[in-house]
Amino acid sequence: MRGIVTIDGPSASGKSSVARRVAEALGVPYLSSGLLYRAAAHLALRAGVDPGNEAGLLALLAVSRVRLLPERAGNRVLADGEDLTPFLHTPEVDRTVSRVARHKGVRAWVNERLKEVPPPFVAEGRDMGTAVFPEAPHKFYLTARPEVRAERRAKERPQAYEEVLRDLLLRDERDRGQSAPAPDALVIDTSEMGLEAVVARVLSHIQD
Ligand code: DC
Repeated sequence: MRGIVTIDGPSASGKSSVARRVAEALGVPYLSSGLLYRAAAHLALRAGVDPGNEAGLLALLAVSRVRLLPERAGNRVLADGEDLTPFLHTPEVDRTVSRVARHKGVRAWVNERLKEVPPPFVAEGRDMGTAVFPEAPHKFYLTARPEVRAERRAKERPQAYEEVLRDLLLRDERDRGQSAPAPDALVIDTSEMGLEAVVARVLSHIQD
């Protein structure tokens, strides 16, 4: 596999785990674009920059020297050499990230970081197959019912299921503008599928 595989979908649709496993099977790195948006949100929270203030966010990002490390065991994000990864999956970042990701300038900043990486790779996010790598030969869009996604996420967060579901529906609403399947993407509803089955489906489609 020499090109780019894109895996998009709403939050907790399973795309990170699937992207990681597919990349592993293909022997290429995977890129988590969401992690870069999360890093931007974390840096804004930490510096006290209002997530609605695009100019303030861009000024902060311009001096933060952020790098995405596409490691196979899990992507990491460094800012000025500091590993931000352990701070990027908190409920605070979950709640702030779509407000940060709404700005055109922030999206351009993330896309530049991704385009610095030479193919082949598997890129995972919301708009990898539509806006960022429209030329990718292999595109997938994963979905699952909100209740199933909230159940999956509640296992990874120190929050009750109801709160996770509420946050997730809110984020779906805010992310709606970014997240739609590319016309040439294979859409997979993972509600009733285990990880292995989804990975196998993606790999067999790529091999076809
Ligand atoms: O995939 P994730 O849950 O880690 O993504 C975090 C947030 O970043 C999510 O709320 C939407 C945003 N995002 C985006 O707007 N575009 C992407 N390509 C990836 C993520």
